[in-house]
Amino acid sequence: MSDIRERLALALDVGGADEAEALARRLAPWFGIAKVGMELYAEAGPDVIDRLHGLGVAVFADLKFYDIPNTVERAARVVGRRGVEFLNFPAAGGTAMLAAGVEGLAEGARAGGHTPPKALAVTVLTSEADASAFDARLDHAAAAGCDGVVCSAHEIATVKERSPRLGTMVPGIRLAGGGRHDQARVATPGDAIERGADWLVVGRAVTAAADREAAAEAVTRDVADALARRSGTR
Ligand code: C5P
Repeated sequence: MSDIRERLALALDVGGADEAEALARRLAPWFGIAKVGMELYAEAGPDVIDRLHGLGVAVFADLKFYDIPNTVERAARVVGRRGVEFLNFPAAGGTAMLAAGVEGLAEGARAGGHTPPKALAVTVLTSEADASAFDARLDHAAAAGCDGVVCSAHEIATVKERSPRLGTMVPGIRLAGGGRHDQARVATPGDAIERGADWLVVGRAVTAAADREAAAEAVTRDVADALARRSGTR
């Protein structure tokens, strides 16, 4: 996973498919993953996933399915059949719920003839200052067979220690000196990568910037520097 673009997910927190597609296209030179969250999905529906795939980017369905295991499994199967690269579930739902999501997603992808997607467990929202539930939720994710977790940069070390098999998708990313908005546990792109993040979720640090391309370039440069430090080449 040497290509920085493949590590960067752009949070498309916008109100419609046209706007999302335009934003993803404009920033595709820097972002190889498009994240579809609740607002966009509620407005545009699942067709937006196909439109984003049409741009040649991977799709992270940030839909946080949380329900009884049977319901989560069925919903995940539908999303898997359509084809996404990532889907997530709140780890607070427990091991059985997460395992149902993992299975449904994999089955759906198989039925649709897609490459196996990654099932991620959301540990503690990056907007919450108190991460005391983290370890228990990480253990649910590991026991359920998830491929990775969504966590803040501050918990990556714990993931590496307790469950090194799990990948880390890290939101709460802010450029140095940038506003936090509603996020509590934030880090710069370079910081998160240096701590060992696999993928970064970047939203307002780029989408709310006066010059989005310049902000995207700054994120990429910060990541490149950190990767070089991580591999000891600088
Ligand atoms: O604009 P900002 O960079 O804060 O956006 C972060 C994105 O990541 C939002 O779309 C938010 O829904 C999502 N997210 C998060 N924390 C999580 C899971 C998802 O901020 N734990």
